[in-house]
Amino acid sequence: MKFRKVLSIETSCDDTSVALVGHEGTVFKSLVLNQNNVHKIFAGVVPEIASRNHSSHLVPLIDEILKETQTSWSDIDGIVVTARPGLLGSLMVGVVTAKTLAMVLKKPLIGVNHLEGHIFAPFLRDESYVPGFDHGEPFIALTVSGGHTSLYLVRGLGEYHLLGETLDDAAGEAFDKFSKMVGLGYPGGVLVDSASKAGNPKGFSFPRSMSGENEMRMSFSGLKSAGLRLITELGEEQVEARLSDLCASYQEAIVDVLMDRLDKAMRRTGIRRAVVTGGVSANSRLRARADEWAKNNRFNLLVPPLRYCSDNAAMIGYAGIMRLNNGEHSEQSLGPEARAPLYEERLRWQ
Ligand code: KG4
Ligand code: ZN
Repeated sequence: MKFRKVLSIETSCDDTSVALVGHEGTVFKSLVLNQNNVHKIFAGVVPEIASRNHSSHLVPLIDEILKETQTSWSDIDGIVVTARPGLLGSLMVGVVTAKTLAMVLKKPLIGVNHLEGHIFAPFLRDESYVPGFDHGEPFIALTVSGGHTSLYLVRGLGEYHLLGETLDDAAGEAFDKFSKMVGLGYPGGVLVDSASKAGNPKGFSFPRSMSGENEMRMSFSGLKSAGLRLITELGEEQVEARLSDLCASYQEAIVDVLMDRLDKAMRRTGIRRAVVTGGVSANSRLRARADEWAKNNRFNLLVPPLRYCSDNAAMIGYAGIMRLNNGEHSEQSLGPEARAPLYEERLRWQ
């Protein structure tokens, strides 16, 4: 194994994160600095502010991880960075920093796809988490984040067959928009999740779209519009009075759709191993429903611990070190890309 430890950098959206990761996915240390306090004033991520904060925070965070772990540059075999997809200005800070480190320190560099990081996040390991199976055999991945909601059949690193994805909004976006509509604000998913805990998921009826027998695609824009209509009809006072029922019912509609598509993917492919990953996999209702479903059907399921659900550099480091050990690397011409479908990743390295 040529690459034993890498430094990884993740700045694709509003979280600044760095990690030290080993070749088997061992997380030696992961640091994440979120900007929630800044963006909550605007009830959403402001790209310009996000990139400005990355440029202030990233280098001090790298310094901190090296000091805390007493790591010297000679212990690090390569530099990994999220290069795509994401907010261009945010990605740019990470990519330029990684390229500079790689050039000055003469270390191999690799830019990875953020979604590939999410796919392998459930296979990270640390002092308090060891995955229940490894990724040596095919599995189904439901990746649910703020920008993406997709189902893949994963045959290995770089081998992603898209089974279905959302035709419009991502599930995370549906959570975030609803949170804004009911006045909970940012960060939306977490706030709707906690408001739902005291609510009745059958309190209101919301649509579950595209429920055809073989349908593995998803759509959340109809749900979002239904939410807006209902909130307008109810008026401010009623929304406040029934906030937890509203949140629980809306959340249930999203979770129902996600679980329905995941179940179809398993039955259609005959595969019995699944991961649910990405920021929305932190959702307590989705985690509980997925657990119960796996138990009832005797499927093997991995959902990462909360620290690896939302954006983090550890998952990026794992995808990157696997690619470096496959003999791949990026050139100094590496640049950020706002859009980058995961199923195109394989073509890049042939
Ligand atoms: O993966 P992630 O951190 O960033 C992207 O790659 O987009 O995902 C962020 C998304 C946001 O939309 C956020 O509202 C959602 O994940 N999220 C949640 C929860 N925690 C984060 N959604 C529902 N319930 C949660 N507990
Ligand atoms: Zn993400």
